[in-house]
Amino acid sequence: MRLDDLHLWYLGDPTAPRYVGALKLVAAGKGVSLHYGKTWLDAGFALSEDLPRIDVEHMPPGRLAADAQRAVGAVDDARPDRWGEKVIRLVDKPKRLSLMEYLYYAGDDRFGALGVSTSSSTYSPRAGGPLPRLADAQQLSDVVAKIEAAEPISTMEAQIVRAGGSLGGAKPKTLIDIGGEQWVIKFSSGEPVDTPLIEHATMTLAARAGITVAKTQVIRLTGSSAVAVLRFDRDQGRRIHSISAATAIRAATASGDEPQMGYPELARILRRVGIARDDINQRDARELFRRMVFNILVDNTDDHEKNHSLLVVSPFENGRLKLAPAYDVLPTNSGQGVQEFLCGAHGRDSTLDNAMSQCDAFGLQPGEAAAEIAGVSDVINTWQEHFAQAGVTQRDIESLAERIDGKELLAQRTDFDPTRFQSTLTKKKRTSPFRRT
Ligand SMILES: Nc1ncnc2c1ncn2[C@@H]1O[C@H](COP(=O)(O)OP(=O)(O)OP(=O)(O)O)[C@@H](O)[C@H]1O
Ligand SMILES: [Mg+2]
Repeated sequence: MRLDDLHLWYLGDPTAPRYVGALKLVAAGKGVSLHYGKTWLDAGFALSEDLPRIDVEHMPPGRLAADAQRAVGAVDDARPDRWGEKVIRLVDKPKRLSLMEYLYYAGDDRFGALGVSTSSSTYSPRAGGPLPRLADAQQLSDVVAKIEAAEPISTMEAQIVRAGGSLGGAKPKTLIDIGGEQWVIKFSSGEPVDTPLIEHATMTLAARAGITVAKTQVIRLTGSSAVAVLRFDRDQGRRIHSISAATAIRAATASGDEPQMGYPELARILRRVGIARDDINQRDARELFRRMVFNILVDNTDDHEKNHSLLVVSPFENGRLKLAPAYDVLPTNSGQGVQEFLCGAHGRDSTLDNAMSQCDAFGLQPGEAAAEIAGVSDVINTWQEHFAQAGVTQRDIESLAERIDGKELLAQRTDFDPTRFQSTLTKKKRTSPFRRT
């Protein structure tokens, strides 16, 4: 089957799919465009800021790096990433491998509330079975290890992993059903430390630092562990339209400008398009600041633009953005000293000075930002006990301590003096989210 025409559907209520529009392969196979259908033009919503409800073929940006592929706006978040693509290559084995195949074979349970069908009149996604259950975790882990090693798998094995859907990201994972809820289960992938357990320990530590995190639990397997992460884009059977920070930042960037993929820019977007009621947008921006500081201090340098997401609240009314719970937060254990996401005036540098440098983009006075840093530092100071309580071995803690309590990061915590910024707490000045710093 050659997938030259695909159709996008909205599955907020999966029992009543709504037709969104037509998808086409464009830009010499490097991009996918979207043309909204009439019903969506009349009564839908803009999937992202760069996809207004107008009767044109929305095209992905013309300038893409040589090996880059991109679907337009929020459609890009409906496609799988490296791991999902690998599963499609090895399990579904489509004859052609373009963005269209990846969009289609990602199946029904993809990220957010969008779905891809071969038909514009009925939502008919790539068939998958019912989600695997917790009792299948060991078998899933074994099949996933085979896929990672590019070893052949049986038809039965293909079925179970196909039923596990394809979310984004690079590491091996599938979806499972635990007690009627969907969880992402992430397996270890030959790392020298117990990464799934460490992810659980870091996420629960982040919660103690005042960060809203996706709920996690450790799944014990023979010879390894896995971490299950509760999906934040599902709500009692309904699906929440969600976009990555990558999509939100690109959509907010004027055409021709280079998107500033980073915390300050995301904070400005949250303050501008977030939920103004009860200052939720201001609180989200403040929490984003906290997440940036936490990531710096816990050596999570892999904080790239797909590792932050936004929920689109009331999309048919006004489509306000809410910061999604944090996920994929764990030490990278590389000590590279630079983040993936821009932090401030010193670019990606993993330093608290850099974090402070553009605190106004987060709506914070220097004194307030410094107090946030002090609070997060206090929690990071307890990481070793917290990890040990979570069951992380002493050997793994020692390995992580080489970075988290190594010269560079420890000095960030011990040398930071919040009183340096205290005077600014009294001089309240209003800052605008529209002002560029
Ligand atoms: N709890 C969740 N609810 C909904 N979607 C999620 C959740 N966790 C992850 N995702 C989606 O799946 C993608 C991959 O997950 P995650 O980032 O945890 O995997 P990863 O393979 O470790 O990623 P990376 O490539 O950054 O190492 C995320 O970018 C996000 O789109
Ligand atoms: Mg990730």
